[in-house]
Amino acid sequence: MILVTGGAGYIGSHTCVELLNAGKEIVVLDNFSNSSRDVPEKIARITKKEFDTIEGDVCDPETVRKLFSDYPIDAVIHFAGLKAVGESVEKPLLYYRENLSGAVNLLECMRDFGVKRFIFSSSATVYAADNPMPLTEESRLGCTNPYGWTKFMIERILEGACKADPGFSAVALRYFNPIGAHESGLIGEDPKGIPNNLLPYVARVAAGKLDCLSVFGDDYDTPDGTGVRDYIHVCDLARGHLLALDYAFGRTGIDFINLGTGKGTSVLEIVRAYEEASGKKVPYRIAPRRAGDIATCYADTEKAKRVLGFCAQYGILDMCYSAYRFTEGTDD
Ligand code: WQD
Repeated sequence: MILVTGGAGYIGSHTCVELLNAGKEIVVLDNFSNSSRDVPEKIARITKKEFDTIEGDVCDPETVRKLFSDYPIDAVIHFAGLKAVGESVEKPLLYYRENLSGAVNLLECMRDFGVKRFIFSSSATVYAADNPMPLTEESRLGCTNPYGWTKFMIERILEGACKADPGFSAVALRYFNPIGAHESGLIGEDPKGIPNNLLPYVARVAAGKLDCLSVFGDDYDTPDGTGVRDYIHVCDLARGHLLALDYAFGRTGIDFINLGTGKGTSVLEIVRAYEEASGKKVPYRIAPRRAGDIATCYADTEKAKRVLGFCAQYGILDMCYSAYRFTEGTDD
């Protein structure tokens, strides 16, 4: 049985769908601090599979120990944690406490219950800003915000856990920019409040829920001057977790793997793609650069292909159309 922490969240819920569709048994732990309580029922509707959801905090030792006592856990996929870059700059101690103690608490319970396989939701944000592109798993590490440092530190904690227990197997998946939604339109990216990330903001402007997109800078050294990122469909990303799980069962030690498409797309290209996919206009204005942003970031995907057999299938239009269906609940 697979424990999915944060399984009601954006990437966690899509991964639960992949796991259930592949015949895996799962149990979800989520405190619903950044996810909706109706997501587990939607996962069950999509997959027609039953599973338990435990409402609780991965930072609470009693909650996690009870879960490991109640369920025959073979592996853990760990999504639960705080993930807003900007908020992490304002509230660094909250991020270090929540993200680090959650991971350590989980790993201590795994050690005590003899559970030895761990898939970690890491991020391309662990790579230093001045690396040449594309980013490989050997690119220089270095973060510019507490959120990124928590991902970096948890990777180092996993290295230590693997050194201490030669039977332990961990895979840190370094996500690039996950966007889009499941084809059912039932689950997707639905941040509370004003979205920090580009796609949910674009989707809400197109839906008339927000007035205008601010494009953070058009004077970068990129083809159209706007920021370039490696956007990957969340369903491709979810499938990557299933492949990483099988990989983790077949080995010991830790490995780090990029999950991206290997292609860069600019902000204005995303705007145009969303307009084409949705048939809606996305009004925008050029605004000053956002602090901490870099011009270009995209993945070298060779290792994911070589060790996981992973290759992203969906294109930008698919990603935008699926986000549109989720945001506007179209039933066409
Ligand atoms: C993408 C591009 C912005 C909003 C972040 C985290 C990263 C990961 C993914 C968790 C940039 C531009 C954005 C807007 C804009 N999250 N933009 N107007 O910053 O690449 O990565 O989310 O793991 O860790 O750092 O994603 O979607 O915020 O920005 O012009 O209103 O869109 O400048 O070029 P980012 P993003």
